[in-house]
Amino acid sequence: MLMSGKKGIVLGIANKKSIAYGIAKACREQGAELAITYLNERFGKKLEPIAEELGCSSRLYPCDVSKPEEIEALRDSLEKDFTKIDFIVHSIAFAPKEGLGGHFIDIGKEAFNVAMDISVYSLIEISRVLKPLMSEGASILTLSYHGGVKYIPNYNLMGVAKAALEMTVRYMAEDLGRDGIRVNAISAGPIKTLAAAGIGDFSFMLKWNAAHSPLRRNISIDEVGKSGMYLLSELSSAVTGEIHYVDGGFNIMGMPAVEFDEDGKPHIAWNGE
Ligand SMILES: NC(=O)c1ccc[n+]([C@@H]2O[C@H](COP(=O)([O-])OP(=O)(O)OC[C@H]3O[C@@H](n4cnc5c(N)ncnc54)[C@H](O)[C@@H]3O)[C@@H](O)[C@H]2O)c1
Repeated sequence: MLMSGKKGIVLGIANKKSIAYGIAKACREQGAELAITYLNERFGKKLEPIAEELGCSSRLYPCDVSKPEEIEALRDSLEKDFTKIDFIVHSIAFAPKEGLGGHFIDIGKEAFNVAMDISVYSLIEISRVLKPLMSEGASILTLSYHGGVKYIPNYNLMGVAKAALEMTVRYMAEDLGRDGIRVNAISAGPIKTLAAAGIGDFSFMLKWNAAHSPLRRNISIDEVGKSGMYLLSELSSAVTGEIHYVDGGFNIMGMPAVEFDEDGKPHIAWNGE
């Protein structure tokens, strides 16, 4: 029970396919007490059975991160129901459709600002507002993607947001390090979720990742969950400012590994569908 006695808030569960759900489940299995948030009433209703399963029916709060008053209200609820918090999971991103396909240079300023606000600034704002409740040794975790480091087709605006998010992790890690608070990100491989559905040709991305990864397969939210639990627990007590890849090794490859069939014909081998 590596998370026994730890209290944490998880933002970003939309359904059971969400990466945040995988992380919440792994933490709960190791004894953590959780609070979770939902974007709006539509998602709130759907989250009720999930909150029950995670043992936090009485700690299911609304929080649209574009509304500062909802972040303040979240702090008040957590102070009342939890008094202190040991970890924060920020698993939130959004970019308007025009930013996830087409010509990169056609992205409008408003779409750019919305993506940066929801996907990057929210991490800073949530951490600042909840900081008075955070215990020494607290851990903050966010979610990134390799498209913030290298070009990935259609990821466009979200790639720029992830680059900013990864640098935000490093600056926050330095700033909060003096209070004993750690800040890390997991850069996950592609997983079919609600957010992923907005990215053009996502199923091709899945196939490409599986074909070109050392493990020759895609990854699951349970695998991100386990690694997330490690970064939120004492197991990683000296780890901060890291971008930890959970992607089957895709990011290390400079060229896909070629294998040869019986006729000596080269092909790229993978275990996917
Ligand atoms: N699925 C992937 O392939 C993949 C890979 C790497 C990183 N990520 C990142 O993982 C994180 C979680 O995404 P996911 O794939 O689990 O999809 P998801 O759709 O399950 O989760 C995204 C969450 O963001 C929330 N959200 C959007 N706008 C919000 C707002 N204004 N206020 C509060 N919440 C808001 C949604 O309600 C949803 O719960 C994102 O940061 C995403 O970029 C996803």
